Amino acid sequence: MSSSPRIVVTGGHGFIGSHLAERLVTTGADVTVFDAGALPPTLDLLRRHAQHVSGDVRDPDRLAEAITPRTDLVFHLAATVGVDTYLHRPLDVIDVNFTGTQRVLERAARVGARVVVASTSEIFGKNPAVPWREDADRVLGPTNVQRWCYSTSKALAEHLTFGFVQQHQVSACVVRYFNIYGPRQRPAYVISRSVHRALNGRPPVVYDQGSQTRSFTYVTDAVEGTVLAGAYDRAAAPAFNIGSMRETTIGDAVAMVTAVIGGGGSTLAVDTNGQLGAGYQDLPRRIPDATRARLLLGWSAETDLRDGIARTVEWARANPWWLATDDSGAGR
Ligand SMILES: NC(=O)c1ccc[n+]([C@@H]2O[C@H](COP(=O)([O-])OP(=O)(O)OC[C@H]3O[C@@H](n4cnc5c(N)ncnc54)[C@H](O)[C@@H]3O)[C@@H](O)[C@H]2O)c1
Repeated sequence: MSSSPRIVVTGGHGFIGSHLAERLVTTGADVTVFDAGALPPTLDLLRRHAQHVSGDVRDPDRLAEAITPRTDLVFHLAATVGVDTYLHRPLDVIDVNFTGTQRVLERAARVGARVVVASTSEIFGKNPAVPWREDADRVLGPTNVQRWCYSTSKALAEHLTFGFVQQHQVSACVVRYFNIYGPRQRPAYVISRSVHRALNGRPPVVYDQGSQTRSFTYVTDAVEGTVLAGAYDRAAAPAFNIGSMRETTIGDAVAMVTAVIGGGGSTLAVDTNGQLGAGYQDLPRRIPDATRARLLLGWSAETDLRDGIARTVEWARANPWWLATDDSGAGR
């Protein structure tokens, strides 16, 4: 009989989920990937060494195919993400992120599996007092501005998680990711979009002068923090900020991309108010205090931004299918 842990990754065909599932497979876990979307090309390791259950995370019957009484641990990453989606399809964002998380937690409660729920730095909204500790306040805009629906949907997913811990004794915790980047990411975010555009011979876009700051976190670092959170099986269910504490302006990050790729280094300046409308509201700074993850999990983001960008560019050059994907989503 195999003693490998039985692990389910929802959203395991997505950007972070596929890196996580690969990491789990290579360390000997028995992995089942649950996703509504297709497995990206070239992921032969996952194709061969993981089970794949196709379905909508809101569908309890499909979920029961993946999360069984033998499941030890569920990483719940399936979600509707991206600025383009939350501006244009807010109902999908709210329903998938809330109902999907509820279904996963219900199923986990039924079979006795532990759950790690993926959340986001967006839950802090526009709280100006960075760096944000896990217990920092949420400061949001009005509900008629769809820009905040993703933040609210993920915060509700967190409330659900802590509610299931309290009322149904589910073992669970939350990981809040901060600007994860790396190979395979949809070209709708600062780094991935800049790499995609520059390698396709188009200038990377810089929104509103690029003076906003972020804490760019390489995907394998995020995966490591997630795996450690999965192993942190304590009665109290904490949230962990999983993000680099190094603050970088978006302008500097885009300049690093163009420097790594070479060429002219020109950029395209965009005024978000004019192009994306008033529903789009940017944050001047988004920085975590990741001390809790360091103290309780022994985790910190190790990858230097320039190294992470270089690895992403190298991967992109070797994957023409990704360079040919559509980057029309106006994401960050
Ligand atoms: N990438 C980041 O910087 C970042 C930052 C903060 C939080 N997160 C969170 O991390 C998780 C993974 O994000 P990602 O960047 O890998 O996104 P992604 O879009 O690449 O992956 C999400 C996956 O979920 C699947 N999915 C969507 N709706 C589904 C549904 N109804 N049923 C089943 N599967 C569904 C998609 O097919 C996709 O494979 C999400 O929960 C997201 O909110 C990501």
